[in-house]
Amino acid sequence: MNIFLVGFMGSGKTTIGRKLAKALNLTFYDLDLLIEEKTKRSIVDIFKYLGEDAFREIEAECLRTFEHKNAFVLATGGGAPCYHDNMNFILQQGISIYIEMDAKSIFDRLKKSKKIRPAIRDLSDENLKKFISENLQVRLPIYQKANHHIHGINSDIEQIVALLR
Ligand code: S3P
Repeated sequence: MNIFLVGFMGSGKTTIGRKLAKALNLTFYDLDLLIEEKTKRSIVDIFKYLGEDAFREIEAECLRTFEHKNAFVLATGGGAPCYHDNMNFILQQGISIYIEMDAKSIFDRLKKSKKIRPAIRDLSDENLKKFISENLQVRLPIYQKANHHIHGINSDIEQIVALLR
């Protein structure tokens, strides 16, 4: 089984992904971590020194390596499905799950999150809210192409497992 988790930043893809991989005895990967390992740079530095376009190219390249992998759960970055035809690649390669979350919950979670996200790190609360609602609107139709949709808040791993069986 090859599982791809998609959804907005802060929606819990990594947390749910780790638990799901454990429950299904699959290997867990996080696309951002793979990018950092491959480039030996942090996501923050890639955005800062190479720019977002270069980041999206590296992201698409790292994602394509999953063509040769099996039995995994991959947590993708929030923007990953939305560039370089990546969502179609994901749909061809395995089972995709969209971790749904409303803008207000995303905002609350991002405010508490320790992960540094270059696209939002310098935004005021007002601008962060604007960023979330604008980007969610653009990305939603892409996320919604996923095979399954689950709620990110209080998601029950057993229910997700049952959904996949
Ligand atoms: C991004 C989301 C991040 C990371 C990068 C860009 C985005 O991943 O890939 O900062 O454009 O939504 P998470 O969704 O894991 O935060």
